[in-house]
Amino acid sequence: PKRWLIVPAAGIGRRMQAECPKQYLRIQSRFILDITLSRLLDSVAFDGCMVSLNPSDQWWVSTEASADERISTCLGGHERSDSVLAALQALSERASPDDWVLVHDAARPCVHPADLERLITVLADHPVGGLLAAPVSDTLKRGTGSDVPEVAETVDRRGLWRALTPQMFRYGLLTEALQSAGREQHPVTDESSALEFFGKMPVLVEGRTDNIKVTVPADLELAGFLLSRS
Ligand code: CTP
Ligand code: MG
Repeated sequence: PKRWLIVPAAGIGRRMQAECPKQYLRIQSRFILDITLSRLLDSVAFDGCMVSLNPSDQWWVSTEASADERISTCLGGHERSDSVLAALQALSERASPDDWVLVHDAARPCVHPADLERLITVLADHPVGGLLAAPVSDTLKRGTGSDVPEVAETVDRRGLWRALTPQMFRYGLLTEALQSAGREQHPVTDESSALEFFGKMPVLVEGRTDNIKVTVPADLELAGFLLSRS
């Protein structure tokens, strides 16, 4: 099977509250999106890479990636899952149902080559696919929904994982699962949720906890620190 990379980069980064979408903020003078793409493309061979962009994107043209002939772009959609589905559709002429698709958030520049390689190796013969994930280490509380929340209960964290990316699935199954979730208006915040809703249970592959998603301003400094030492 072939191996494709999809990087959804069509979000606006509302929680980052920056003057541009967070994937176009710079760390050590490079765009986050360029760091993310080069870390992935320089560690593993892909048959193609599709980046979903916001229709009002005005920064992509200035990236290093825009001059990289391995990379194609398409227009993303309203939700992250729409952006991933748009990228899958843009690959439809070239991809077969059994091919592998790795989906990785543009906003996770600290992804480690060793994690990427392990995900691919562990899932090699699997019919569905799986995702990088990290066991939850904090004690978890469910809060009451009030203005000054109180603890309603402590949630047993045994068996709980935080979903990371990349998430890697068979092209045909992932496309069908996302389409089905869309038709049934089932909310999907990652590829795995779509597969689960479709009745296909993904494999959890333990990944590094420093594969953070840059989401709020404090994450930017943390990502800069992590990248300075890897
Ligand atoms: N994304 C996308 N299309 C969307 C929404 C998100 O391609 N309609 C991408 C983002 O660009 C990001 C990844 O999905 O790389 C993870 O989403 P998230 O961290 O939520 O990014 P944003 O949606 O941009 O941030 P926020 O939710 O704070 O607005
Ligand atoms: Mg979002």
